[in-house]
Amino acid sequence: MRAVDIVAKKRDGGELSREEIAFLISGYVAGEIPDYQVSAWAMAVFFRGMTAGETAALTQAMLQSGKTIALSDIPGPFVDKHSTGGVGDKTSLILAPLAASLGIKVPMMSGRALGHTGGTLDKLEAISGYRTALSADEFRKIIRRDGFAMTGQTAEIVPADRLLYALRDVTATVESIPLITASILSKKAAEGAQALVLDVKYGSGAFMKETAKAEALARSLVDTGSALGLKVTALLTDMDEPLGAMVGNFLEVEECLDCLEGRGPKDLMDVTLELAARMVVLGGKAANAAEGRRMCESALASGKPRELFLRNVQSQGGDPAALEAARGVYRSPVCAELRAAQGGYIARISAQDVGQAAVRLGVGRNRTEDPVCPTAGVQFHRRRGDAVQPGDALMTVWAADQAGLDSALPQLERAVEYSAAPPPPRSLIYKEVI
Ligand code: URA
Repeated sequence: MRAVDIVAKKRDGGELSREEIAFLISGYVAGEIPDYQVSAWAMAVFFRGMTAGETAALTQAMLQSGKTIALSDIPGPFVDKHSTGGVGDKTSLILAPLAASLGIKVPMMSGRALGHTGGTLDKLEAISGYRTALSADEFRKIIRRDGFAMTGQTAEIVPADRLLYALRDVTATVESIPLITASILSKKAAEGAQALVLDVKYGSGAFMKETAKAEALARSLVDTGSALGLKVTALLTDMDEPLGAMVGNFLEVEECLDCLEGRGPKDLMDVTLELAARMVVLGGKAANAAEGRRMCESALASGKPRELFLRNVQSQGGDPAALEAARGVYRSPVCAELRAAQGGYIARISAQDVGQAAVRLGVGRNRTEDPVCPTAGVQFHRRRGDAVQPGDALMTVWAADQAGLDSALPQLERAVEYSAAPPPPRSLIYKEVI
């Protein structure tokens, strides 16, 4: 077999065999097939696409490129959630302890902020002492004890994805549905999940801006996951505006605690409960999403998910008492208030603008190696649909430094759109794909 023939076959619209795909991926990881051939192949896939069978074979080949986490000695069911990413998207921190409180085991491997989208690991690391680089043994031990654990991907898990993603990033081939599908599912299968709820976002702050593209990605993820023996459900959810009233690493941890205490904002609670309800269904604890949601609501009211969250903070190196003491005070000293430029109603707050401004503030990063600031961010005092008078406080903004604050404020100002009449209601869940 020769890599050049595989590239030519895909370039001409052919269907690659399982063996050809495995040859390409294993050869690439072994350093036997060079970047330039894999780049050409990725571009051919970008234009020609892949059949469902090819996408499943690619996922499998990537999964087999590294180690997998063995969870078979722990009683399941193992159900995870994955989001395609957004601004203020902090549902993982709430739904992991929530699902765990209902007997679901959640083996969660998360990523970091990149570009305008936030990252779960950066949020967790805003909790003083919290460790996100767990060994496989620690990961297993904490799942057994707390029902969930949150870690970053280790070097041994799906090495093919790390190499391929870096290559796609610099060859304009990230936005390929089969390549995204294989990237996401290989990692989720490697962490030991048996079932997966996907939050596929659309709108200005999402990776896929249009609903049709988001739906095509959801369909590909669900079908490929099923072909691999995973139970998968996808919800298409709105990411045109930030989720919740806080954007920022520690700010979002605080908002999650508010949610676990029954004081969360409605949009964030709705998306979280709908996702968690599907986790409970996939884990076999509820017959349908409505029942799953009711179970999640009663679990939240019982306080058990909050208790599990704090227990996990302790298990992963943090101090729950210090976390409590930091609430409302752990903020950057570089701070400003943004006020309404006019009166009327808030018609929209653009997630994309807020996400990009958050990078300037220090919440996120443009290059994977850059650090983030735990105490930077934005707290919204007014949101879509709220009436405002000129000069009303719209948001409080914290930055890592003055230059970041100065460059973010104009973009945050631009993020806010006004209308004379109240905007129409926004539906957060567009569709479920099963
Ligand atoms: N997220 C991933 O994990 N992989 C992709 O290819 C795109 C988004």
